[in-house]
Amino acid sequence: MTQCGKFITFEGIDGAGKSTHIGFVAEFLASRGKTVVSSREPGGTPLGEKLRDLLLHEKMHLETEALLMFASRREHIAQVIAPALERGDWVLSDRFTDASFAYQSGGRGLDRAKMEALEQWVHPTLQPDLTLLFDVPLAVARQRLDATRTLDKFEREQADFFEKCRNEYLRRAAEHPERIVVVDSTQTIEAIQLRLAEVLEKLL
Ligand SMILES: Nc1ncnc2c1ncn2[C@@H]1O[C@H](COP(=O)(O)OP(=O)(O)OP(=O)(O)O)[C@@H](O)[C@H]1O
Ligand SMILES: [Mg+2]
Repeated sequence: MTQCGKFITFEGIDGAGKSTHIGFVAEFLASRGKTVVSSREPGGTPLGEKLRDLLLHEKMHLETEALLMFASRREHIAQVIAPALERGDWVLSDRFTDASFAYQSGGRGLDRAKMEALEQWVHPTLQPDLTLLFDVPLAVARQRLDATRTLDKFEREQADFFEKCRNEYLRRAAEHPERIVVVDSTQTIEAIQLRLAEVLEKLL
């Protein structure tokens, strides 16, 4: 694949700020004359959105979940990401493979070697040019998602799950410092946008 555009992914646990900042990044790049394609995973294509619906609502074996995530990703790369990069567009994706490592391996405990095999199979050469990892303590993310609720027993169990996801994200960031930038998401939205502008400037 001849790639001229750039591929940026947005990562972080639920409530970390991915959706809040993807719009800002899209506008920033557009103001610099870039053509921007914004997308999300799981999803991003008609088939991918059907898989998303299954993934978010059906109970399934952990490995089925991982395989469907990568099936959605394979379609997303073929239909959206690769053609856009070849046209010279900039692609922004709300989640990509780091999320599979964080949730299915970190959170749910799927053997990391299996995840690495899927990554090698589905995108052996493609990696994001930049991954913005919005990092925030779980309690802050929770508070942002629902400022009024106190956690019940079940939600506390989930808290442990999200803590494991966050740790796996940070492990990936330490493993791939050349592309993953950890953004302190406890800061104000304005402060974060200044930091994002700085990071993007280097990529332009
Ligand atoms: N830095 C910030 N300071 C204060 N509030 C924030 C900040 N970043 C995001 N928020 C608020 O937190 C909430 C969750 O943010 P957002 O929807 O962007 O998270 P997300 O990472 O996309 O979550 P999900 O994975 O659930 O889609 C929103 O109401 C948003 O306005
Ligand atoms: Mg979101």
